[in-house]
Amino acid sequence: MTGPVPGLATGPVPQVDWEALHAAAVAISERAYAPYSNYPVGVAGLTDEGDIVVGCNVENASYGLGLCAECGMVSQLQAQGGGRLVAVYCVDGRGQALMPCGRCRQLLWEHGGAACLLMTPEGILPLSEILPQAFGPEHLTQR
Ligand code: THU
Repeated sequence: MTGPVPGLATGPVPQVDWEALHAAAVAISERAYAPYSNYPVGVAGLTDEGDIVVGCNVENASYGLGLCAECGMVSQLQAQGGGRLVAVYCVDGRGQALMPCGRCRQLLWEHGGAACLLMTPEGILPLSEILPQAFGPEHLTQR
């Protein structure tokens, strides 16, 4: 699925191979470590360099320490040299589009910003619609 996207994103709309992102998210979900929830999650992000970065959830016997899939993806993004996320596809264990939790929406905002596109159960939406009135880096300069 490619092509123009509705929503509030400004600037050029990137061409996104959503099928490739979905395939990468499903593949990495199979490496999830989710023995406590039995709820594997995989996520794939397209960077502004054209690379795909991925992550899966990694749980812990100390339940509250579990890492969401998006945490792993953002770590990979930074570890490979940084860059911006332009599109993200998060899936559950059935390969269905999964809405990132609130904390992870904030992670995506930090590394993708308002125009980053997210595949949702209702179609492709910019983060500006997923996390309205977001707190972001610019607020730290307003002290
Ligand atoms: N999970 C994610 O990996 N990302 C999300 O955005 C939502 C939730 C994981 C955390 C936990 O390992 C499992 O899904 C069940 O909550």
